[in-house]
Amino acid sequence: MLRRLHPEQPASFAFTPANRAWAEAQMTKYPEGRQASAIIPLLWRAQEQEGWLTRPAIEHVAEMLGMAYIRALEVATFYFMFQLAPVGSVAHVQICGTTTCMICGAEDLVAVCRELIAPKAHTLSADGRFSWEEVECMGACANAPMVQIGKDYYEDLTAERLRAILGDFAAGRVPAPGPQNGRFAAEPRSGLTALTAQAQGGLAANYSVQAAADLGDTIKRIDGTEVPLATPWLGPVKKPRAPRKPKAEA
Ligand code: FES
Repeated sequence: MLRRLHPEQPASFAFTPANRAWAEAQMTKYPEGRQASAIIPLLWRAQEQEGWLTRPAIEHVAEMLGMAYIRALEVATFYFMFQLAPVGSVAHVQICGTTTCMICGAEDLVAVCRELIAPKAHTLSADGRFSWEEVECMGACANAPMVQIGKDYYEDLTAERLRAILGDFAAGRVPAPGPQNGRFAAEPRSGLTALTAQAQGGLAANYSVQAAADLGDTIKRIDGTEVPLATPWLGPVKKPRAPRKPKAEA
């Protein structure tokens, strides 16, 4: 699939002060002269801030990292996780269309998105709040068919369940992610036949679902204020060293 920049672009991009500080801290994770290695986290942060990856954002990141624009553009267009067109302000639905999900009903999920969001993928709904696309296997094949919305997986889906989930998002509610058919995780639908004493480990929901509920950031975009900077090697701010005195000649 050919991935191009969207024809309509904003005039400029700048990180928020908190995101700028985060981005600069990430750059210190790499040896001097290798700052280009931070390209993916910085592009991701720019996308989290804006919702999608704009041309000014790609150029801004390239400048921060001392890279040619074309090198940053190569990365942005290669990885499908980077959205090169505007996405829904409430939810962007990524439907897995690979073999297991396709066999288990992914086409029904696509039909729901075509009906409720937009006839074509990568197109905003009429109110600009939703968008959708088909993606490759997301590693939840045992819970097929599934979609990713925000940071969460919604699994064991049916057309009816997806319809209800989209209705919840439209009404301002965030539905519980994870299996949608009563399964705890990826155990057999008929229940565990071994290690039954360990079943659910005393939890009401599997760890991913519980973490999503606890963190409450399921579809919230990172704005730089909630993720602490984890760069202990920077330590306290050091005073610049005084220039060395030249050695006296013998
Ligand atoms: S085939 Fe859909 S998650 Fe793997």
